[in-house]
Amino acid sequence: MGAITSISTSDLIEMKRRGEKIACLTAYDASFARLADAAGVDILLVGDSLGMVVQGHDSTLGVRLNDMIYHAQLVRRGVKRSLVVVDMPFMSYATPYQALGNAGRLLGESGAQVVKLEGGAWLAATVELLGARGIPVCGHLGLLPQSINKLGGYRVQGRDPQGAEVIKRDAEALESVGVAMLVLECVPSQLAAEISAAATIPVIGIGAGPGCDGQVLVVYDMLGISERLPRFAKNFLAVRAGVEEAFRDYAGAVKRGEFPGAEHGFE
Ligand code: KIV
Repeated sequence: MGAITSISTSDLIEMKRRGEKIACLTAYDASFARLADAAGVDILLVGDSLGMVVQGHDSTLGVRLNDMIYHAQLVRRGVKRSLVVVDMPFMSYATPYQALGNAGRLLGESGAQVVKLEGGAWLAATVELLGARGIPVCGHLGLLPQSINKLGGYRVQGRDPQGAEVIKRDAEALESVGVAMLVLECVPSQLAAEISAAATIPVIGIGAGPGCDGQVLVVYDMLGISERLPRFAKNFLAVRAGVEEAFRDYAGAVKRGEFPGAEHGFE
């Protein structure tokens, strides 16, 4: 039997090139990470959604850098194959050098491989600085939960032509400075499909319809544990015998292009 090798950011670009869909789930601890990894989930995102689904806050703003380091350490211990991406929490990357110090701690102390930052073109200098120091970055556009106080609610973004144009330009700006991949959250399916088709890096959708290169869900949503199931999510545990089976079903459905369906997107 060959050695199990971990997925890299270049493997993801290759998968996009081959038209192979990328399955991603959030994870916050070693046990769920082990099951998702064994079930063939390609990316485990240690999302700052943990502030809501694990810590019980009503937003992600209260999550601290040490919380993210701790949960990324737990996840990393459960993983053999999946790429581990970790969110930088609110206000931990407000300037490029603040981001560099905190990203260095996050990856250095946890063993995660990629940091994720919420925001568009204003992050260009930060992405370049991190890249020059060997830190891969995942961008995050569309609905930005860390900006909830500015947005005024968890709403679909980019429905109007101006908003859509800003998201497109932000995606281009982030790709041009070297982000390794992009998450698009709650944007119209058509816009997400256009951004994915134009990008050479993998675009992972959540509430962004079936046209992205991959899909991410909050693990508690796809297991039906969350208080409220978002319209774009699906409870995979409801029809399965166990958690690993549900993860396998999810990864298979993403890879076969069966999930998300048109009904899981927005117009
Ligand atoms: O924090 C998180 O879980 C995320 C996903 C919703 C993409 O950023």
